[in-house]
Amino acid sequence: MVYLHSKDDDCMKILVTGGAGYIGSHTCVELLNAGFDLVIIDNFSNSKPEAVEAIKKITGKDFKFYEMDYLNRELLEKVFEENEISAVIHFAGYKAVGESVEKPMDYYINNVSGSLTLLNTMKKYGVKKLVFSSSATVYGWPEKIPLTEDCHVGGTTNPYGTTKFFIERILEDIYHSDSTWGIAILRYFNPIGAHESGLIGEDPQGIPNNLMPYITKVASNELEKLSIFGDDYDTKDGTGVRDYIHVVDLAKGHVLALNKLEKEKSGLFIYNLGTGNGYSVLDMVKTYERVNQVEVPYEIVGRRKGDIAICYADPTKAKEELGFIASKTLEDMCRDSYHFARKKNR
Ligand code: UFG
Repeated sequence: MVYLHSKDDDCMKILVTGGAGYIGSHTCVELLNAGFDLVIIDNFSNSKPEAVEAIKKITGKDFKFYEMDYLNRELLEKVFEENEISAVIHFAGYKAVGESVEKPMDYYINNVSGSLTLLNTMKKYGVKKLVFSSSATVYGWPEKIPLTEDCHVGGTTNPYGTTKFFIERILEDIYHSDSTWGIAILRYFNPIGAHESGLIGEDPQGIPNNLMPYITKVASNELEKLSIFGDDYDTKDGTGVRDYIHVVDLAKGHVLALNKLEKEKSGLFIYNLGTGNGYSVLDMVKTYERVNQVEVPYEIVGRRKGDIAICYADPTKAKEELGFIASKTLEDMCRDSYHFARKKNR
């Protein structure tokens, strides 16, 4: 991947909300490596201060960090007062599907009201460039596979997914009301893996909901065995198929999206960030075991409510318009996830 930004852009200051989180921290590393100047805000609701230090250690670069809630308008305005922000990458938000069903209000307030607070503040300070962290979850029950960006969106199956869908709609309305905005909506498929340094990675609190962190905890003997949710889907081995993408590839996609906004000046752009490959749950278990020389005991249990059989991206648009190519393999993803877990537990 080639980063296209001129020398003048080298001091562009980017505000990253949720920059200490899993995808946020990896993106901050890539942004700093690409020469951007950063301001990061995070309230550590699902991340740790160690991640901020790790970003500095990996890149050898410094940046301003504010520990704050992005719903706090007064503090957010202070960030814009104190820094000449050129663009925002917005990751902050809750993301646990199951929890969102239990606590929908928390999700709508944090994700939707928070985004509105951010957008309103951006408008006040004349900052009209935004990269938004969305999800393939907005496609709901997939209209077709592979998913292209023009597939039907909506029909989301949980409040978390609905917040992403609502925010996308809000962004579209904002752009239609004022076409001087430059907005890139990135729909992630299944990000896994970790930075090769092992200093940042996915570190969910408690029992993980997602496959890769669960496999990692089983491999590290923190959990006894993996429950595979169904082996009777219409897939090659009956288990669910997803488009797993290395988080570092995903992070690089954000730098490319930012470059696109710089180049085009304005516009509304939507991209799938996936690899275009589908792997089953059993593929994941077998690859993880082989690459890391570990055992991942599992049992087949019933299907998980709301799960779909197959979901993967058509990544052509991101490739053609951004030059986005996910270059890391499934082996890299499995190796880096385990490496991070081992380093953390040491
Ligand atoms: N799975 C298991 N056992 C587990 C966890 C998951 O068998 O303990 C299976 C699931 O049934 C599915 C696959 O592993 O077939 C992947 O499940 P994940 O929970 O890791 O990921 P999902 O595809 O269900 O969800 C992800 C993100 C969501 C996002 C969704 C759609 O976690 O935030 O993709 O984009 F909404």
